[in-house]
Amino acid sequence: MILVAGGSGFIGAAAVRRLVADGEDVLVMTAHPSRSGRRIAALGARAVGGDVLDEASLAPALSGADVVVQALTFPTFPVQRPRRGYTFEAFDGRGTSRLVDAAVAVGARKFVFVSGVGASADASQAWYRAKWEGEEHLRRAAIDHVILRPSWVYGPEDRALNVFVWCSRFLPAIPVVGDGSQALQPVFVEDVARAIAQAARPGGLSGTFEIGGPDVLSMNEVLRTMLAVRGARRALLHIPRWMAKAGGAVAQLWPWPKLSPEAVEFLTEDAVADTEALRGHFDLDLTPFRVGLATYLAKGARRPGP
Ligand SMILES: NC(=O)c1ccc[n+]([C@@H]2O[C@H](COP(=O)([O-])OP(=O)(O)OC[C@H]3O[C@@H](n4cnc5c(N)ncnc54)[C@H](OP(=O)(O)O)[C@@H]3O)[C@@H](O)[C@H]2O)c1
Repeated sequence: MILVAGGSGFIGAAAVRRLVADGEDVLVMTAHPSRSGRRIAALGARAVGGDVLDEASLAPALSGADVVVQALTFPTFPVQRPRRGYTFEAFDGRGTSRLVDAAVAVGARKFVFVSGVGASADASQAWYRAKWEGEEHLRRAAIDHVILRPSWVYGPEDRALNVFVWCSRFLPAIPVVGDGSQALQPVFVEDVARAIAQAARPGGLSGTFEIGGPDVLSMNEVLRTMLAVRGARRALLHIPRWMAKAGGAVAQLWPWPKLSPEAVEFLTEDAVADTEALRGHFDLDLTPFRVGLATYLAKGARRPGP
């Protein structure tokens, strides 16, 4: 049985769909069963309660798992809410470590961690250091593992590019924080799901792999490509970072904030992957950005099920 922690989320659900289609028995760990239960059932998986912030809940949740996939993050990502325990450190760092320990304790044979490009011990940003902490705990643990570091993941259910898609439908111009020159390597969620499914096979693949799509584009190019695929014409309206941060300072006071000054930093970082190791070890045909977008944004395209 493969347990996917975060299988109700954007990347996790795509992985669950892939694994179920491959005939695997999939259990999804959720900290919010009443909210996510129906979605998990619609994916063709079973649900089990478990919360990375609650150590005692993890071993019972993972009991019977051969493979554990960690694809979770805090509900207000990328805006941290320390008072609720929603921080990169609590989820990517300590949370991953707890999940790894529970996987070892229940005798799981493999652990797959969805980390992120940029993870490093001495990064200036907390999110990269927290990912690194989780990765290091896994590397030291007595369990076979694969660490996947995606760049910028897009798909019908993402919460990044779809904000701009929404803007292109309802606003006369698309607001872009900064000058839009950051380098991105958008990777289609279906490709990340395939990589997770291959990584989850017991034995076989092992190690740390960065994953990004075949195109490296600036944010401006990403948005112009999205507009072209939709057949829409909109101007890009660049907003100075200081102005976005000032807006974020106010927005972060809301109970379910969408922006903070720190999140502005996160959203305007480069995200480029070195895919050489991935290409050497995985059986993947990485989808060009325009082709991936067309599967759900082009006129007449159908969005996948739940
Ligand atoms: N999206 C990207 O572009 C991208 C790029 C690189 C790396 N990543 C990494 O990929 C991972 C998944 O990202 P995503 O975009 O798919 O996230 P997402 O859609 O926000 O999903 C988050 C998942 O975390 C679960 N969760 C929330 N609180 C939890 C808790 N206390 N205990 C256990 N599970 C909890 C949620 O499940 P319930 O609500 O059912 O509990 C949900 O399934 C993250 O670690 C992220 O850093 C994402």
